[in-house]
Amino acid sequence: MEVRVFDTYEELSREAANIIIAHVRQNSTAVLGLATGSSPLGLYRELIRDHKENGTSYQNVMTFNLDEYVGLEKTHPQSYYYFMMENLFNHINIPLDHINIPNGTAKDIAAECQRYNEQLAQHTIDIQILGIGANGHIGFNEPGTPFDSTTHFVKLDEKTRQDNARFFSSIDEVPTHAITMGIQNIMAAKKIILLASGTSKADAIYGMIKGPVDPQLPASILQTHSDVLVFLDKEAASKL
Ligand code: F6R
Repeated sequence: MEVRVFDTYEELSREAANIIIAHVRQNSTAVLGLATGSSPLGLYRELIRDHKENGTSYQNVMTFNLDEYVGLEKTHPQSYYYFMMENLFNHINIPLDHINIPNGTAKDIAAECQRYNEQLAQHTIDIQILGIGANGHIGFNEPGTPFDSTTHFVKLDEKTRQDNARFFSSIDEVPTHAITMGIQNIMAAKKIILLASGTSKADAIYGMIKGPVDPQLPASILQTHSDVLVFLDKEAASKL
């Protein structure tokens, strides 16, 4: 793991964006793995700005998102589909049929997990963007998830629901379940960039980097991947 600490979230976001932009400019058919949540928002803003100013094209790029809540329609403002359209896809020239996000309202969720996993198996993600949960989750692979897991249906940790309640009007509205890429799918990416900012992530970051590789802190598996960049602000790095 290569750890870089930045003074500000903006700087961290810009540097991460520059890596993606350079890759997409050199590989027009790049496959990107994407995350939702607060951590990649600045990165997405930079990709949009660059697309508008410099014309970096996403015409042939393909994306796979990490996860989606179960039970929220695509039109629900807190669905990850909606989040991605609002914060990235509506503002760059990526064709809709190049976007892959698990369908959280599929009638048969087990079949949807299998379908998504098969889609993933047909591609290799060049760069996977990750955030990290305060409990050390990556995607929605909560503590205790086996490292060899593939796309699966997951019951969200109460800690995760509480953390994400800030986006909903009450905790009762936060979905209880999600579909997530498994840890094995994430580890199959050629390169991984994990972004974390703020003191609430400091313990998880410490455990991920300095602790044992342990399913109780799912992100610790990244210690065994050969190409991981960890981009932190000073607060997230404060316990290192
Ligand atoms: C989101 C995801 C989650 C988040 C994590 C951190 O697609 O898979 O693992 O990356 O919960 O969320 P934020 O960035 O909101 O702190």
